[in-house]
Amino acid sequence: MQKWIMSGLFFVACTLALVLMFTLPGKEEVAEEAKPTMPEVTLDKAAAEATVKASCISCHGDQLQGGAGPALNQVGGHLDKDALFNVITKGRKGMPAFKDQLKPEEIANVALYLSEKK
Ligand code: HEC
Repeated sequence: MQKWIMSGLFFVACTLALVLMFTLPGKEEVAEEAKPTMPEVTLDKAAAEATVKASCISCHGDQLQGGAGPALNQVGGHLDKDALFNVITKGRKGMPAFKDQLKPEEIANVALYLSEKK
Protein backbone atom coordinates (compact mmCIF):
# COMPACT_ATOMS: atom_id res chain seq x y z
CA MET A 1 0.00 0.00 0.00
CA GLN A 2 2.71 2.49 0.99
CA LYS A 3 4.59 1.72 -2.20
CA TRP A 4 1.60 2.90 -4.19
CA ILE A 5 1.47 6.18 -2.31
CA MET A 6 5.21 6.73 -2.82
CA SER A 7 5.08 6.08 -6.55
CA GLY A 8 1.98 8.25 -6.82
CA LEU A 9 3.81 11.12 -5.14
CA PHE A 10 6.83 10.57 -7.35
CA PHE A 11 4.67 10.73 -10.43
CA VAL A 12 3.02 13.99 -9.30
CA ALA A 13 6.42 15.54 -8.56
CA CYS A 14 7.73 14.59 -11.99
CA THR A 15 4.69 16.01 -13.74
CA LEU A 16 5.04 19.24 -11.80
CA ALA A 17 8.74 19.50 -12.69
CA LEU A 18 7.94 18.97 -16.36
CA VAL A 19 5.20 21.60 -16.35
CA LEU A 20 7.50 24.12 -14.65
CA MET A 21 10.25 23.39 -17.16
CA PHE A 22 8.01 24.40 -20.02
CA THR A 23 6.20 27.33 -18.45
CA LEU A 24 8.99 29.21 -16.68
CA PRO A 25 10.91 31.41 -19.12
CA GLY A 26 14.37 30.01 -19.84
CA LYS A 27 17.51 32.09 -19.31
CA GLU A 28 17.82 32.58 -23.04
CA GLU A 29 14.37 34.08 -23.36
CA VAL A 30 15.05 36.57 -20.57
CA ALA A 31 18.31 37.64 -22.21
CA GLU A 32 16.49 37.98 -25.52
CA GLU A 33 14.08 40.45 -24.02
CA ALA A 34 16.81 42.59 -22.50
CA LYS A 35 18.62 42.75 -25.81
CA PRO A 36 16.28 43.33 -28.76
CA THR A 37 17.06 41.26 -31.86
CA MET A 38 17.66 43.19 -35.00
CA PRO A 39 15.43 42.35 -37.97
CA GLU A 40 17.20 41.34 -41.19
CA VAL A 41 17.37 44.26 -43.59
CA THR A 42 19.47 45.16 -46.61
CA LEU A 43 21.10 48.54 -46.36
CA ASP A 44 19.19 51.39 -47.96
CA LYS A 45 21.74 54.17 -47.67
CA ALA A 46 19.46 57.01 -48.83
CA ALA A 47 16.76 56.04 -46.33
CA ALA A 48 19.32 55.74 -43.53
CA GLU A 49 20.73 59.18 -44.33
CA ALA A 50 17.23 60.64 -44.30
CA THR A 51 16.43 59.08 -40.92
CA VAL A 52 19.73 60.26 -39.45
CA LYS A 53 19.14 63.75 -40.80
CA ALA A 54 15.65 63.87 -39.32
CA SER A 55 16.35 62.29 -35.94
CA CYS A 56 20.03 62.27 -35.02
CA ILE A 57 22.04 65.22 -36.30
CA SER A 58 20.57 67.64 -33.75
CA CYS A 59 22.71 65.90 -31.12
CA HIS A 60 25.36 64.10 -33.15
CA GLY A 61 26.23 66.86 -35.64
CA ASP A 62 25.32 67.30 -39.32
CA GLN A 63 28.41 65.35 -40.38
CA LEU A 64 28.02 63.04 -37.36
CA GLN A 65 31.12 64.74 -36.02
CA GLY A 66 29.59 64.94 -32.56
CA GLY A 67 27.88 67.65 -30.53
CA ALA A 68 25.68 67.03 -27.52
CA GLY A 69 26.21 63.34 -28.29
CA PRO A 70 29.45 61.58 -29.25
CA ALA A 71 30.74 61.54 -32.85
CA LEU A 72 29.25 58.72 -34.89
CA ASN A 73 31.36 59.09 -38.02
CA GLN A 74 33.62 56.21 -36.92
CA VAL A 75 31.25 54.46 -34.54
CA GLY A 76 31.35 51.25 -36.62
CA GLY A 77 34.91 50.80 -35.38
CA HIS A 78 33.79 49.96 -31.85
CA LEU A 79 30.11 49.01 -32.12
CA ASP A 80 28.73 46.33 -34.45
CA LYS A 81 25.29 46.54 -36.01
CA ASP A 82 23.62 44.64 -33.18
CA ALA A 83 25.16 46.88 -30.52
CA LEU A 84 24.11 49.94 -32.54
CA PHE A 85 20.59 48.58 -32.92
CA ASN A 86 20.48 48.04 -29.17
CA VAL A 87 21.64 51.59 -28.26
CA ILE A 88 19.33 53.30 -30.75
CA THR A 89 16.33 51.17 -29.75
CA LYS A 90 16.70 51.44 -26.01
CA GLY A 91 18.69 54.65 -25.56
CA ARG A 92 21.48 55.15 -23.01
CA LYS A 93 21.89 58.01 -20.54
CA GLY A 94 21.53 61.21 -22.65
CA MET A 95 20.74 59.19 -25.76
CA PRO A 96 16.95 58.89 -26.20
CA ALA A 97 15.31 55.55 -27.03
CA PHE A 98 13.91 55.46 -30.55
CA LYS A 99 11.70 52.38 -30.25
CA ASP A 100 8.55 54.52 -30.21
CA GLN A 101 9.64 56.92 -32.96
CA LEU A 102 11.14 54.58 -35.52
CA LYS A 103 10.17 51.14 -36.80
CA PRO A 104 12.58 48.31 -35.95
CA GLU A 105 13.39 48.04 -39.66
CA GLU A 106 14.29 51.74 -39.81
CA ILE A 107 16.51 51.42 -36.75
CA ALA A 108 18.11 48.29 -38.24
CA ASN A 109 18.81 50.17 -41.46
CA VAL A 110 20.45 53.05 -39.56
CA ALA A 111 22.42 50.53 -37.48
CA LEU A 112 23.73 48.87 -40.65
CA TYR A 113 24.59 52.26 -42.13
CA LEU A 114 26.48 53.37 -39.02
CA SER A 115 28.24 50.01 -38.60
CA GLU A 116 29.97 50.68 -41.92
CA LYS A 117 31.37 53.98 -40.68
CA LYS A 118 34.83 52.98 -39.47
C1 HEC B 1 18.74 64.26 -27.62
C2 HEC B 1 20.03 64.07 -28.20
C3 HEC B 1 20.29 62.83 -29.03
C4 HEC B 1 19.61 62.41 -30.16
C5 HEC B 1 18.42 63.05 -30.82
C6 HEC B 1 20.29 61.22 -30.61
N1 HEC B 1 21.33 60.91 -29.77
FE1 HEC B 1 22.58 59.32 -29.92
N2 HEC B 1 23.49 59.83 -28.18
C7 HEC B 1 23.22 60.98 -27.45
C8 HEC B 1 24.07 61.02 -26.27
C9 HEC B 1 24.09 62.10 -25.24
C10 HEC B 1 24.86 59.83 -26.32
C11 HEC B 1 25.88 59.36 -25.31
C12 HEC B 1 25.19 58.36 -24.39
C13 HEC B 1 26.08 57.85 -23.28
O1 HEC B 1 26.93 58.60 -22.80
O2 HEC B 1 25.92 56.68 -22.92
C14 HEC B 1 24.47 59.13 -27.54
C15 HEC B 1 25.03 57.94 -27.94
C16 HEC B 1 24.77 57.33 -29.15
C17 HEC B 1 25.42 56.15 -29.62
C18 HEC B 1 26.54 55.38 -28.93
C19 HEC B 1 27.85 55.94 -29.41
C20 HEC B 1 29.05 55.26 -28.84
O3 HEC B 1 30.14 55.58 -29.32
O4 HEC B 1 28.94 54.44 -27.93
C21 HEC B 1 24.87 55.84 -30.84
C22 HEC B 1 25.24 54.70 -31.75
C23 HEC B 1 23.89 56.84 -31.12
N3 HEC B 1 23.84 57.73 -30.08
C24 HEC B 1 23.12 56.88 -32.26
C25 HEC B 1 22.09 57.77 -32.49
C26 HEC B 1 21.21 57.71 -33.64
C27 HEC B 1 21.32 56.71 -34.77
C28 HEC B 1 20.29 58.70 -33.47
C29 HEC B 1 19.11 59.01 -34.38
C30 HEC B 1 18.20 57.93 -34.67
C31 HEC B 1 20.61 59.40 -32.24
N4 HEC B 1 21.71 58.81 -31.67
C32 HEC B 1 19.93 60.49 -31.75
C33 HEC B 1 22.28 61.94 -27.77
C34 HEC B 1 21.37 61.87 -28.79
